[in-house]
Amino acid sequence: MVKKNACVFISGQGTNLKELLKSSREYNFPINIKYIISNTKNAKGLKFAKLYKIPFHILNLDKIINLESVLKELYKKKISLICLAGYMKILNKNFINRFNKKIINIHPSLLPKYKGLNTFRRVLENKDKLTGCTVHYVNKRLDSGKIILKKKVSVQLNDSEETLKNKVQVKEYRAYSESIINIFR
Ligand code: GAR
Repeated sequence: MVKKNACVFISGQGTNLKELLKSSREYNFPINIKYIISNTKNAKGLKFAKLYKIPFHILNLDKIINLESVLKELYKKKISLICLAGYMKILNKNFINRFNKKIINIHPSLLPKYKGLNTFRRVLENKDKLTGCTVHYVNKRLDSGKIILKKKVSVQLNDSEETLKNKVQVKEYRAYSESIINIFR
């Protein structure tokens, strides 16, 4: 199989990145991760970039000069998919316009419910019985692009934000890999 080159954007722990790196080592998984971008040097997930020896870059995309240089690098590396994996900045609109390949995101709710932040708190406040995660294409409106796949998690009476996050993240890892397989099928 000829794999596509992908770039993963992170801001934090990078557990989705870690799972994607693991999947990408499988012979028949459709992408190779060739580049990792973090908007902060403090992202704990950068340790996975080092572990897997993937080049990474710390970047503020709001600076026009960075935007141009990162686009150049992405084209040079022939990146045909960007995966946002816990990237906690709103992606620069010029960047979305200019990068003419696929960009996807994983979000910790059943979209279109609970776009934005604090999804688990809102699930608990509203006494929802179900939550989960969604993988979707990125467009210029926050968490609003075409949905690729959702996975559900049932909410128990004794759940806290922390326990929900843990349960949803386990589903996220599978949802992200399955979505990428679906995209390139
Ligand atoms: C993930 O749960 C992801 O759904 C969420 O951040 C977490 C990152 O975890 N993303 C968002 O909230 C985006 N709006 P990770 O860094 O361990 O993969």
